[in-house]
Amino acid sequence: MQNSPTKFTEITLARPDDWHLHLRDGAALAAVLADTAKRFARAIVMPNLKPPVTTVALADAYRKRIIAALPTDTQFNPLMTLYLTEATAPNEIDAAVASDFVHAVKYYPAGATTNSAAGVNDLTNCTATLARMEKLGLPLLVHGEVTDSAVDIFDREAVFIDRVLQPLRRDFPALKLVLEHITTKQGIDFVMAQDHHVAGTLTAHHLLLNRNALFVSGIRPHNYCLPVLKRETHRQALLAAATSGNPKFFLGTDSAPHAKSTKEAACGCAGCYTANAGIELYAQAFDSVGALHKLEGFASFYGADFYGLPRNTDKITLLRDSWGVPAELPYLADDTLVPFMAGESIAWRLQN
Ligand code: DOR
Ligand code: ZN
Repeated sequence: MQNSPTKFTEITLARPDDWHLHLRDGAALAAVLADTAKRFARAIVMPNLKPPVTTVALADAYRKRIIAALPTDTQFNPLMTLYLTEATAPNEIDAAVASDFVHAVKYYPAGATTNSAAGVNDLTNCTATLARMEKLGLPLLVHGEVTDSAVDIFDREAVFIDRVLQPLRRDFPALKLVLEHITTKQGIDFVMAQDHHVAGTLTAHHLLLNRNALFVSGIRPHNYCLPVLKRETHRQALLAAATSGNPKFFLGTDSAPHAKSTKEAACGCAGCYTANAGIELYAQAFDSVGALHKLEGFASFYGADFYGLPRNTDKITLLRDSWGVPAELPYLADDTLVPFMAGESIAWRLQN
């Protein structure tokens, strides 16, 4: 895409929402929550705690812990999700829909990522539950990677589409489905080929980096997430989709904090912490292709429309005013958090 002739010095948009976020719990939750609440009105909160948030009762309790951890005078609405297991019963879906705070169910293939061991081995064991979700309009949020160790890690999303998503679409054509954190052209093409029941979220880190960023004069654990970064052709496909104005694609940061010592380790955890620049990083990505005028739809409108929620009416302003990302942020009593792009600068700043 050509650079737009207008070089914005600031941009005002309806307050965005984050449709995919990890907030953790306890001290970690208390450390990270304000970063999101400062920028976003609402967030879809991932349920991969230990133990996972598998019931409406657990989601209610978690939601109350999040609200209790909010800084005073902060308006932020956590939108809760349930963690799908092969034991999730259809009546749990009834209870979720009857609640006013559970908005989706998250499907982790067992073993695909952080705290996914209790996830699903065989989706055919969830047929009755998926049928109830389809009937009642509760979206399924999909971590789209096969866990088959024989499949190359860079191909796991594409293979998942063929092995799992295509059959799922055939068997449950009216099930609302979000392919989360899309990382490949195949993921983009899949979502574009589906009807209005299917959408996709895109992270800022997958819009900004390709897999070379994992190996810049050494291994870079803070750029390691799942699904792993892909080659440049895929990043270009993601950026084109995000900035296309197609309402099937919307913002989901997948901000996923892990303590520094657990990232900088022999077996480092997957996840990039982006919440401290949760909207600014997207402004940078959109600006890189002259598409800032497409940011509001992607960040503030299309997700709400998909979830059937009202659009936010208050506004935020971003200024073209470069700032340095800190090397570390406070996190736990005995460990820190290294944010995405630590020590680098971001061209866009949130106006207070
Ligand atoms: O990189 C990731 N981190 N990907 C996920 O799917 C989970 C997340 C986490 O919870 O840390
Ligand atoms: Zn995630």
